[in-house]
Amino acid sequence: MGELSPIDDDLARNRALWTAVNAAFTDADAERAWAAEEITWGLFRVPERDLGVLGDVAGLDVVELGCGTAYLSGQLARQGARPVGVDLTPAQLATAARCQERFGIAFPLVEADAEQVPLPDATADLVVSEYGASVWCDPERWVAEAARLLRPGGRLVFLTNSVLATLCVPDDEGFAQERLLRPQRTLDRVEWPGGGVEFHPSHGAWIRVLGANGFVVDALHELYAPEGGETHEYYDIATADWARRWPVEDLWAARLVR
Ligand SMILES: C[S@@+](CC[C@H](N)C(=O)[O-])C[C@H]1O[C@@H](n2cnc3c(N)ncnc32)[C@H](O)[C@@H]1O
Repeated sequence: MGELSPIDDDLARNRALWTAVNAAFTDADAERAWAAEEITWGLFRVPERDLGVLGDVAGLDVVELGCGTAYLSGQLARQGARPVGVDLTPAQLATAARCQERFGIAFPLVEADAEQVPLPDATADLVVSEYGASVWCDPERWVAEAARLLRPGGRLVFLTNSVLATLCVPDDEGFAQERLLRPQRTLDRVEWPGGGVEFHPSHGAWIRVLGANGFVVDALHELYAPEGGETHEYYDIATADWARRWPVEDLWAARLVR
């Protein structure tokens, strides 16, 4: 076999990472996430009802890019949407399929790179990504794919680590600290010692890439840990104490106007 291109190399690294995370955490956690009674966002489970980002999804065609174990798509299906889950990692999709059976909710699961989705143009009313393509894919490529998949007027909602949290996380991973530990200039592409490759554009860069692909931004919700929120049992991005004081996640909502 010839040498991997840099993009194939990123895919292989991220697939290997998520195969390992599935075995260590997400497979065991998936049924809890699928069983949740309401949609929440992020590490500290901020309720969607407090934010109203998704609105009424009944009857909408939805594509989730980087669906993982697909609990968000499962919740959207419960609310009357028609989701399709797209993910790179077979182990994650196997867990998603098991949960579909367990909870009696069926929708297509597609094994694919969210930068090149094998679905037709103008297929969706809503594209969502919760720590999926929004973190693991090159924004220039996946936002273009989201625009291609959406019908005119369609919406894109995605959650990712806040820029601030990413600036404060040590080079060798671990919880965000109370000072800036890396230059914002290098956040576009972050290679972790644990193997993953992530993309963390600045707010300005997100606005530029969204605009270049025909989106207008409706909202940027900066998520804090609610009072009583607890530090996540597995993901060591920020403690609850940190996230009560600084925004730990950015939840973007945009609309395709082109
Ligand atoms: C944190 S999970 C997101 C799923 C779920 N919302 C969650 O919070 O567990 C990240 C997912 O992104 C997927 N992923 C990474 N790179 C991808 C790519 N290029 N295309 C599609 N999915 C990708 C991984 O396989 C993994 O399942």
